[in-house]
Amino acid sequence: MNFIPPIPNSLEQHWMPFTANRHFKANPRILTRAEGMYFTTDHGAKVIDGSAGLFCVAAGHGRREIAEAVNEALTTLDYAPPFQFGHPASFEVARRIAAVTPGDLDHIFFTNSGSESVDTALKIALAYHKARGEGQRMRLVGRERAYHGVNFGGLAVAGMVNNKKAFGLGLPGALHLRHTHLPEHQFAVGEPETGAELADDLQRFVDLHGADSIACCIVEPIAGSTGVLVPPKGYLKRLREICDRHGILLIFDEVICGFGRTGKQFAADSFEVMPDIITMAKALTNGVVPMGAVAVNDKVHDALMSAAAENAIELFHGYTYSGCPVASAAALATRNIFEEEQLVERAASMAPKFLEALYSFKDLPVVTDIRGYGMIGGIDLAPAEAPGVRGLQVMQQLYDAGCMVKMTGDCALISPPLVCEEKHLDEIFSKLRGVFAKH
Ligand SMILES: Cc1ncc(COP(=O)(O)O)c(C=O)c1O
Repeated sequence: MNFIPPIPNSLEQHWMPFTANRHFKANPRILTRAEGMYFTTDHGAKVIDGSAGLFCVAAGHGRREIAEAVNEALTTLDYAPPFQFGHPASFEVARRIAAVTPGDLDHIFFTNSGSESVDTALKIALAYHKARGEGQRMRLVGRERAYHGVNFGGLAVAGMVNNKKAFGLGLPGALHLRHTHLPEHQFAVGEPETGAELADDLQRFVDLHGADSIACCIVEPIAGSTGVLVPPKGYLKRLREICDRHGILLIFDEVICGFGRTGKQFAADSFEVMPDIITMAKALTNGVVPMGAVAVNDKVHDALMSAAAENAIELFHGYTYSGCPVASAAALATRNIFEEEQLVERAASMAPKFLEALYSFKDLPVVTDIRGYGMIGGIDLAPAEAPGVRGLQVMQQLYDAGCMVKMTGDCALISPPLVCEEKHLDEIFSKLRGVFAKH
């Protein structure tokens, strides 16, 4: 197979996303193969995957079943237009997702990424109110420190400053709840005991702007990319109650949490709070083909269906590749693996060992905070001369030591593939300790 050059001929033309391009091109970290829990680099070194790629490779790398399903799709139906035409696989994926989503969140709209899922969910919320004759409900409530992808809708409700500050004013009418990380939560294990009342920020927006101006409130049940902020006990329930009181839709962005990361199918199950809409993406195809999805409950879906004239399009929204055959095939094969290997149950049973290892770093002077839940954890490191400098150094040193983890600034995000075994956790955490101890 000569199609892919063994080493790139040039690094200059590819402007890399969310990457320090100049640093990378001076210190390239090129991955050439992956199998199970490991990448192989262009130097032939093995690198253990401590973050499931970017939280997406739940079933481990190089799964033949997925490759075969994708190949079958490519050689039978390479593409089918998703507007006004269909193909069997996308309906089957929707059925399989609906089988694991909580409650009546059984209506599945396909996208190609988490960012598109978020923008789709926000648009569905606006369209829902419009369909019910409440089109003036246009305010979108997000939260500080939230990550909802990079498109303009998601950016408007997000709260990670660096992602927003270069890109103008965003959508009008976006409001932000305070984030939920309080000083007393330092080293809290699982859900912090205090902070549920931070949900009352939503009530304050109602008092200030009027409920009839607010369309929806979107939160990540566990804020992932900002460094794993686990919700305070009772916080999500309180948000739900305020939403219910005021006709506001509650959206859970489960792009990271969904499909087992929390030890249940969705974080909505883990925290026993039912949103109206769930966004998802990562782990849906095990990372191999871009695909996202939005699950919508009966109330929202039926309102949109019944408001449109007979034979009219009910939602003027969609993507050329929504539910395309190749992504659908990858998703079906991934669903099969999840069921056959009971990955969600496996995550739940591995979580105590994972969390124990995560919190064992408390003794290191450079570690300033640790947060974790299920199979996701964040370890804050004291910043060096400027924020992010130590994080970049640590990432490089870890890579050199044979371990890949996602860093956000000075926070290490640990979220191994759900197929990991104890020996893999031991390897990841001992490599982390080796590097952290030098700082
Ligand atoms: C909660 C959340 N929403 C949305 C996104 C955006 O997903 P994507 O990068 O697939 O657009 C992410 C990505 O990390 C995420 O964590």
